[in-house]
Amino acid sequence: MEFIDIKKQYLLYKQEIDSAIHEVLDQGNFIMGEQVKTLENTLAKYVGVEHCIAVSSGTDSLQIALMALGIGPGDEVITVPFTWISSTEVIGLVGATPVFVDIEADTFNIDVTKIEQAITPKTKAILPVNLFGQMPDYAQINAIAQKYGLHVIEDAAQSFGATQRGQKSCAMTTIGSTSFFPAKPLGCYGDGGALFTHDETLAARMRAIRTHGGERRHHHTCLGMNGRLDTIQAAVLLAKFPHFEEELRARERIASFYARELADYCVIPQVQEGNTHVYALYTIRVANRDELARFLLSKGIPTGIYYPKCVHEQPVFAYLGYKQGSMPIAEKASNELLSLPMHPWLSQDELIKIVESIKEFLCVPALR
Ligand SMILES: Cc1ncc(COP(=O)(O)O)c(C=O)c1O
Repeated sequence: MEFIDIKKQYLLYKQEIDSAIHEVLDQGNFIMGEQVKTLENTLAKYVGVEHCIAVSSGTDSLQIALMALGIGPGDEVITVPFTWISSTEVIGLVGATPVFVDIEADTFNIDVTKIEQAITPKTKAILPVNLFGQMPDYAQINAIAQKYGLHVIEDAAQSFGATQRGQKSCAMTTIGSTSFFPAKPLGCYGDGGALFTHDETLAARMRAIRTHGGERRHHHTCLGMNGRLDTIQAAVLLAKFPHFEEELRARERIASFYARELADYCVIPQVQEGNTHVYALYTIRVANRDELARFLLSKGIPTGIYYPKCVHEQPVFAYLGYKQGSMPIAEKASNELLSLPMHPWLSQDELIKIVESIKEFLCVPALR
């Protein structure tokens, strides 16, 4: 049984993917080939924004977003302590200071009610993370941002394809940033990411930063990076994209099955009203998480722990001075969350084995 089955997906779409890759090999346009532009147009249309900029990863995309907004030393960016390191790392990399706001206990997303108290005269942006595949309430976040004149960057690395009141993830804020890391709901075969915005000036700046700050060939107007998406990765994404919505529906069906079967045994994911969830990770909460993970592994069921340590507890961010206990909801989540196998091709037999094993463990007092 696979936690995320990338091989199965390849076998299903092998012909389309192989021929897309071979087309790039035949053309020899490995850097900024026509597939990159086609992908950008396709994804911009899907998300419902004017501009998409394909980039080298979901980490580089966040950094490019911050650079394009002119965020740097002396600035503060509000974000969450319960996420993959990238969301905070990039704030440090541009020389700004991350300011953490704790998460909600049920959605694991930023606690919107705590944002205002974290705002100071140095705050320049809010960078929420759409954890596990659903968005926090962007109507509320954007209203706070507007009140204080802040930018909002949506870290949508885990939520591409999700919606909120009918609007797609990556279309909700100043800049939307996603990742095409292979294990993401829409993944390529290496590193990749994309930026989305309605703002033409910002789009031009992000395009320039992606290519060493070059506005055009041999004319560099700002500091940038080598942040381009490979043509081969764009081709892989274009081959997979026609199947994406169908895969999201399969993920929803699996999530509904898990929810139906497990709701009486553990805390299941709560989908916020107005949201659809893409379940990049299907994550349950149990007090004895580590024992359950070991028990499931002994039965051949892989699980994942996202995330065993909060970002404010990472040695690299010790300089920020957050103490243990300063982000209690995030810290508790880091001890109790367990992600179950989630991909569109889990069989009924596999699903039954997973839920029956969880029930067996949680119902036997000696194992609790
Ligand atoms: C929440 C979040 N932000 C950012 C990233 C970074 O994406 P990438 O791995 O493509 O750099 C990831 C991916 O792992 C993520 O889960």
